[in-house]
Amino acid sequence: MKNSYVMAASAMAMLLAPGAHAQSKELVLYCSVGEEWCRAQSEAFSRETGINVLMTRKSSGETYAQIKAEEGQPRGDVWWGGTGDPHLQAAQEGLTMEYRSPMLDELQDWAVAQAETGGYRTIGIYAGALGFGYNSDLVSDNPPACWADLLDERFRDDVQVANPNSSGTSYTMLATMVQLMGEEEAFEYFTELHSNISQYTKSGSAPIRAAATGETAVGIVFQHDAVAQTVQGAPIVTVAPCEGTGYEVGSMSIIEGGPNPESAKVWYDWALSPAAQEIGATANSYQVPSNAKAKTPPEAPRLADIKLIDYDFAEYGSSETRSRLLARWDAEIGALPN
Ligand code: G6P
Repeated sequence: MKNSYVMAASAMAMLLAPGAHAQSKELVLYCSVGEEWCRAQSEAFSRETGINVLMTRKSSGETYAQIKAEEGQPRGDVWWGGTGDPHLQAAQEGLTMEYRSPMLDELQDWAVAQAETGGYRTIGIYAGALGFGYNSDLVSDNPPACWADLLDERFRDDVQVANPNSSGTSYTMLATMVQLMGEEEAFEYFTELHSNISQYTKSGSAPIRAAATGETAVGIVFQHDAVAQTVQGAPIVTVAPCEGTGYEVGSMSIIEGGPNPESAKVWYDWALSPAAQEIGATANSYQVPSNAKAKTPPEAPRLADIKLIDYDFAEYGSSETRSRLLARWDAEIGALPN
C-alpha cells in the first residue's frame, strides 16, 4: 500500500514538472568481478554518493550476451569489471557509450591504450596475468610449471577451466594459446587438454575454488584468483606458465541508452579514483589497479616478473575474431565427448 502510494506520488511529480526532475538516484550495475568485490564496491559507492545500486554479478561473456540481447531496450547503466575483450567487442558493436573521463590522466598506459582501442567506449580498471593454480596436497611430486605439463595423463579428469563463451578468463586462455602457438596448434592443444578436463565451469574463477577444496588438482585461472585462495588459507600454489602467458585489462563501459546516464558517469569517474580502486584488496581481489596513484596490493602477482605475451587486444577483442574463435571452440572442443 505504502509503495504504491510512493510510486503514484512520484509519477504525479513527474507529470507536473516534466523537465524538473532531478538527477536519478539509481544505478543499474552489471558486475563481472568476484561477488565479494562486486558487493563491496556497490556498497561503498552508495554510501559515498547516496545513489542506490542495483547490482547483478555475471561472467564477462554472459554479460556481453545480455547487453547484446537488450540492445535497443537497455536495462543496465554500467558494466564494471570482467576481461577487456568482450568490452571491446561491445564497443565495436556500439552497445556502449563514448565517454572521456577527467580521470584519464591518472591512469596507467595499458588502461588508456584500452580506451583508445575501444574508441573511448571502454577503459581499463585493472590488470592481471593468466596462469593456473594447483592443490599442493594433491600434487606433491613434479609440480606442473608449463602449459604443456597440463596435458600429462596423471592429470586425467583433474583439471578445470571455464567455458570461453560464458567466461572472459577462459576466452583469455583461448586467445593466449592462439597467440603463443598459432591457431591450429592451439586447437590441437585444447583437444588434448580436453581428456584432462573434468568440467568446463561457467565462471572463470570457479576452477580454483574447486582446487582449493580438493575437488580438482588444477584450476586454470588468473593468477590473482589463485593467490586469493592461498591468502584464505587453501593449499594452492600459483603458477606463471614457463612458455609465457596472456593477461587481461579488466574493463568498464557505460551502456548506450541506459536508464540512468548521469549516475553512470558518477560511477565511472569514481571507479577510476585511487580510493575506489583500493577497495579490491579489501574484498580478497588482488589485481593491479589502473590508477597509477592507487596502491597495488602486496599480494598481487608482479606483472614485471611474469613472461607476458604482447596480447593483441584490438584483434582478439574484435567482433570478428572473438565470434569466430568461440564458434570454432564450440564445434571442435565443446562438442567432444566427455
Ligand atoms: C575473476 C577475476 C577477474 C576477471 C574475472 C572474469 O573475477 O578476478 O580479474 O576479470 O574473473 O570473470 P569470468 O567469469 O568472465 O571469467
